[in-house]
Amino acid sequence: MITKETFTRIASRYGTPAYVYEEKIFRDRIRRLIASIAYPNTSILYAAKANTNPVIAGIAREEGLGVDVVSCEEIALMLTPKVGFQPRQILYTASNITDEEMIFAAKKGVLLNIDSLSRLSKFGNSYPGERVCVRINPNVGAGHHDHCITGGPESKFGIWYSETDEIKRIAKRFNLCIIGIHQHIGSGILDVEKFLLAMDVLLAVAPEFPNLEFIDFGGGLGVPYKPEDKSLDVERLGREMSNRFRKFCDTYGKKLLLVIEPGRWFVAECGHLLGRVNTIKRNPDGRIFVGLDTGMGHLIRPAMYGSYHPIVNISNLYGEAKENYDIGGPYCESGDIFARERKIPLIREGDLLSIEIAGAYGYSMSSNYNLRRRPIEVLVTPNNEILIIRKRETTASLIEGGM
Ligand code: LLP
Repeated sequence: MITKETFTRIASRYGTPAYVYEEKIFRDRIRRLIASIAYPNTSILYAAKANTNPVIAGIAREEGLGVDVVSCEEIALMLTPKVGFQPRQILYTASNITDEEMIFAAKKGVLLNIDSLSRLSKFGNSYPGERVCVRINPNVGAGHHDHCITGGPESKFGIWYSETDEIKRIAKRFNLCIIGIHQHIGSGILDVEKFLLAMDVLLAVAPEFPNLEFIDFGGGLGVPYKPEDKSLDVERLGREMSNRFRKFCDTYGKKLLLVIEPGRWFVAECGHLLGRVNTIKRNPDGRIFVGLDTGMGHLIRPAMYGSYHPIVNISNLYGEAKENYDIGGPYCESGDIFARERKIPLIREGDLLSIEIAGAYGYSMSSNYNLRRRPIEVLVTPNNEILIIRKRETTASLIEGGM
């Protein structure tokens, strides 16, 4: 755990707002998930969209993960020497892509995970005889918010699970080799049963495809944000998935590769967003507003999904929690609120607050709304060294970027 002294040092040395990541927690999560899956022929991909910092992605590679990407920009980043992935370690799970994007990925030698029958035909037409993966919508969806459910009839993702004849017809026409099938049912799932339900659907579909090398069951592993949330039992999930997969492979007649691709579970809990209080005001009804130098442009999850993030007053860790605070940022938008009526120890102007569990979908979903700069990102190493892993944006770069 990062100490108060380290947080304070980071804030005084590099300023706020700042994203702070604990390397040890990130590495520990990866190792724990690897250990939880007994089936030996397993490959775990890091869903890079959760946090695309190059150093974070590089650590995932060092720990033995492959990577799941969703854009050509992510492909380009993963192939940089700094991050260091090889094309064969990358799966491009592409939704509604252009021909140019398809060609870019194929030229780089990255395996495409195709999301529609229409794209499968276009891919076959351009690359007959190629190897490819297809994403299936198993009609099972789950997630912490409607926006994060990616299976079922309302989801834009994947090819409906009953359309296997169509997939096979297109594959035959273009001599495509379907070496993988994939699903991802949603994000922020804390219930093992949901994963198993979807797994059973995909395993029922799989025998339709005789040339499989792997089956990818997606990501979506949730973390507890609220105090009352129960952790996902990853050890049980790993055990159940291994058992099911072993049995499946026995009947399929080939030991396939078991693939999963979590993002949040690895990186959420290692991340903190540090902000400094610059304003406190009271409304006539007694509501107390705490104004920070960070807000929805840096962490949009509360505004976008109503997500809960714990907030800690680093400057008054052990003070008595007497008052309820509405805590928000500097953006010109009423929804720029991290928390409503949150009871935490006394907050004063100048205090340093940490928005917790901010490592996943924090910086990676940040924006320059209001033309504000994105925060600096720092990594705290296991030896307690503080490394800058992304500089704070400058006003000059934002102005130039718009010209
Ligand atoms: N694979 C695919 C194809 C995905 O679309 C996603 C996430 C993942 C893997 C990784 O999911 P994870 O393990 O991180 O749950 N912005 C939302 C989450 C959106 C997730 C999008 N896809 C949030 O902040 O909660």
